[in-house]
Amino acid sequence: MCGIVGFVSRSTPAVGPLVNGLRRLEYRGYDSAGVALEGTAGIKVYKQTGKVAELDKLLKSALKTEAESGEYAVGIAHTRWATHGLPTRANAHPHVADDGRLALVHNGIIENYAALRAGLEKRSIKFISQTDTEVLAHLIAAFDKGDFLAAVSQALKQVEGTYGIASISARHPGEMIVARKGSPLVIGLGEGETVVASDVSAIVARTRQVVYLKDGDIARITPEGVQIYSLDNAPVSRDVQQVDWDLGAIEKGGFEHFMLKEIHEQPDALRNTIRGRIDRQGATAILAGLNLSPRDLAAIRRLVVIGCGTSLHAGMVGKYLFESLADLPTSPEQAAEFRYSNPIVGPDDWAVALSQSGETADTLAAVRESIRKGALVSGLCNVVGSTIAREAGRGVYLHAGPEISVASTKAFTAQVTAMLLMALKMGRTRRLSHEEGVRIASEIERIPDLVADVIREEDEIARIAAKYAHADDMFFIGRGILYPAALEGALKIKEIAYVHAEGYQAAELKHGPIALLSAQTPVVALLADIPGKEKTVGNVQECRARQAPVVGVATKGDDDAAAQVDDVIFVPRTIPEISPIVSVVALQLFAYHVARLRGCEIDQPRNLAKSVTVE
Ligand code: F6R
Repeated sequence: MCGIVGFVSRSTPAVGPLVNGLRRLEYRGYDSAGVALEGTAGIKVYKQTGKVAELDKLLKSALKTEAESGEYAVGIAHTRWATHGLPTRANAHPHVADDGRLALVHNGIIENYAALRAGLEKRSIKFISQTDTEVLAHLIAAFDKGDFLAAVSQALKQVEGTYGIASISARHPGEMIVARKGSPLVIGLGEGETVVASDVSAIVARTRQVVYLKDGDIARITPEGVQIYSLDNAPVSRDVQQVDWDLGAIEKGGFEHFMLKEIHEQPDALRNTIRGRIDRQGATAILAGLNLSPRDLAAIRRLVVIGCGTSLHAGMVGKYLFESLADLPTSPEQAAEFRYSNPIVGPDDWAVALSQSGETADTLAAVRESIRKGALVSGLCNVVGSTIAREAGRGVYLHAGPEISVASTKAFTAQVTAMLLMALKMGRTRRLSHEEGVRIASEIERIPDLVADVIREEDEIARIAAKYAHADDMFFIGRGILYPAALEGALKIKEIAYVHAEGYQAAELKHGPIALLSAQTPVVALLADIPGKEKTVGNVQECRARQAPVVGVATKGDDDAAAQVDDVIFVPRTIPEISPIVSVVALQLFAYHVARLRGCEIDQPRNLAKSVTVE
């Protein structure tokens, strides 16, 4: 969603670091971009609809000489994903107040903006945009009596909703005020310069020493560093942390798209998820971050797995893992439904929140609700230090490395792998025998190689994708542990190839959707070897009887299943618990090649954002 970058230095021109930072945030999805620069001549604002490249052109023509850009060593920048008002230049951030002397960028939503705006309009303040953000700019200006930080604090106390903000003012040269509530902000400490961003990937090119702000923090940023306070002006201290990955992790490294790179990274990513987490002797998993003793685990009566989108699909796989390996009743819950349903959770329940970003607004709210109700709560996040990881207080990091492509790939396979480790650990405190534990643990160790085997099939998958790339409607079917994999396959192809796709439990087709099948509606059937596979093969026959062409994803060597379909993608033989991982990797490649052939913008699909920080 929206992205923020801020830069404060004594002499380095701000424009380069700001534009480069915005480029690093492009993957999050946006529809307009802008920059405000502060220098001796006051504040200058440049905004553009469309891509950061357009904004860059505008800046290059406005600041023709180095001397011109060198005048501005302080600035804020933003990529906007429209919520209030169309994606126009007027609605793009930064927004200004105080006759152009104050500029503000904002992520999040100000819920009481209409009432605040009406109040300001009564005081003859003129608005030029339809956004909620502009209200905050005018409020800050109205409270500014000489202390910038105090003015921002006072303005924020009027606001209901969520925010990550950065503001500069010509009345307070050389400083920037930032604050967060419900929308992440991280501060990078460089040599004679300080960088701010909503996402650490916009910072690592300049420094890897960072400070994560917490909700309720407000900070004054200068070239020398940062001073952090509560909204009531009490100084607070936050640890300086070292980012443990470098720029290479967020560059394409020779791949045409981030999505393809991330699909190919999965063997290594999953090796990192598993590394150091298998206890061979005990035939169990070592998950120190959970901080749960065998007694704690044994006392849990029910597991609630919470997530959105791809993370929800991974959670749905979790149901099969925990129920089969640990005899633990498990309910997957869509986070937005869960948070507003007055959920029945309590001290006997373990709520596990799945989130690649660790910032998804609904998942975070579900975590908070579960904590309030006394459940044991854990996060299963990829982004280290993210809000869900911190607030859950215990959990398992995926260690899959940065995921830049909007469509989630390696996070899904890492989430399923991490849950498999959790289910193994849980199972071993319950009914899972040592022998069974050994069997599961050694198959978990094979996951990276199994995934590499699927990736080696890429050319064949691309050939099959070419055969079906023209279709505008597709069905994905599976049953048991492969049912959520079917949902994930449908989601991938919807979001990146803009193909209308439905994911169904295979038996469910007959209860209505089969009416839509024809020679124009390919069906992708998940036929890897799991209990009930023969039943799905039967459902394939029903589809073919309606002339629908069928692509099967089947276990290598399963010639019977292959004989029942028009085209087959083979995945390696493994245990049922790992079948969603290998099947989904095949579906990721299938979706990728369909999207490529349809000429889609794969890494930044229309209307989508990487991290959904609004409800
Ligand atoms: C789909 C996708 C989304 C995310 C969802 C949750 O490819 O990326 O469906 O899975 O927005 O995001 P996280 O996992 O960051 O909570």
